[in-house]
Amino acid sequence: MSDSYFDQTNKAPDTAYENSLRPPDFEAFHGQEKIKDRLTLMVEAATQRDDVLEHVLLSGPPGLGKTTLANIIAGAAGTQLHTTSGPQIEKAGDLAGVLTNVQKGDILFIDEIHRLHPAVEEYLYPAMEDFRLDIIIDSGPSARSIQLNLPKFTLVGATTRAGMLTSPLRSRFGLVNRLDYYSHDELAVIITRSAGLLKIPIKPDGAAEIASRSRGTPRIANNLLRWVRDFAQVRSDGTIDAETAHNALAMIEIDNDGLDEMDVRILEAMIYKFSGGPVGLSSIAVAVGEDASTLEEVHEPFLIMQGFVKRTPRGRVALPAAYAKIGAPISKNQDELF
Ligand SMILES: Nc1ncnc2c1ncn2[C@@H]1O[C@H](COP(=O)(O)OP(=O)(O)O)[C@@H](O)[C@H]1O
Ligand SMILES: [Mg+2]
Repeated sequence: MSDSYFDQTNKAPDTAYENSLRPPDFEAFHGQEKIKDRLTLMVEAATQRDDVLEHVLLSGPPGLGKTTLANIIAGAAGTQLHTTSGPQIEKAGDLAGVLTNVQKGDILFIDEIHRLHPAVEEYLYPAMEDFRLDIIIDSGPSARSIQLNLPKFTLVGATTRAGMLTSPLRSRFGLVNRLDYYSHDELAVIITRSAGLLKIPIKPDGAAEIASRSRGTPRIANNLLRWVRDFAQVRSDGTIDAETAHNALAMIEIDNDGLDEMDVRILEAMIYKFSGGPVGLSSIAVAVGEDASTLEEVHEPFLIMQGFVKRTPRGRVALPAAYAKIGAPISKNQDELF
């Protein structure tokens, strides 16, 4: 499914729509209370000491608010945010280019930081630790290293794959935060806020209905809201209530638990093609025709959190809830696995 209304892989978010709904500060950012507490405290402490913020790592599946938090941190600290991403920094010179634009106290936001080139990463260590860059100029016998002193800055890194970060890089972050999926109640609040901003009339049961099918993800919640709004406008009186939301979401085949077509295909493949597992991620990927990294970043964490799938040392195993979802009987030998 690639329609922007409900592209659950979040591969190509509609940035204009998204930015219009981005909470501007910690008060408007609902949920992730522990992380918000830590970040607020960190900003307050640094502000009191008139110091620069510690480097912060934000990890978690797509659409949970990493980019939003990076912006909020910069706003709260009253500093400038410079945004780049791992794949955009191809060589040390690119990093130098970015860092020489940064002023004291500014935030450098590196999205997808797990995709930094290893050679670039080496340059980042002294930059993060001692605020200096050692650049090698020329090559061969005339090669020499020049040192560039940098202003004290804060690195905020975001990643969907915390496990792929090297330990030297990880250890250089003062604060490491893992964002979790949101509860239905939290999502209902977020949906109600978005509806308010978009001037869409919505009833509490309508927000709850959308929330329960949003895969614990604000980005998906906002995208589904947009679809339900269109549906309500054309097929109903424009107000979103539970029934309208239900009918709208049924029309795009969003399942009751928020599982998308790919989630269901994964469960079917695990059960029918691999007898429920244990099966390796790459075998599942081939069976469903999706790349393994998308399975690991987007689908698997949700299926695990919802209790459909379990990770074991021998591979992924489909749990009883998966059989129930697909409507497949559990065979006797599977029973012993759980
Ligand atoms: N806690 C939240 N409260 C309200 N809206 C949120 C929250 N977290 C994310 N969003 C919304 O969801 C969308 C995706 O958030 P984003 O920060 O881009 O996610 P990520 O960078 O983790 O992929 C944005 O439109 C943002 O406004
Ligand atoms: Mg992001």
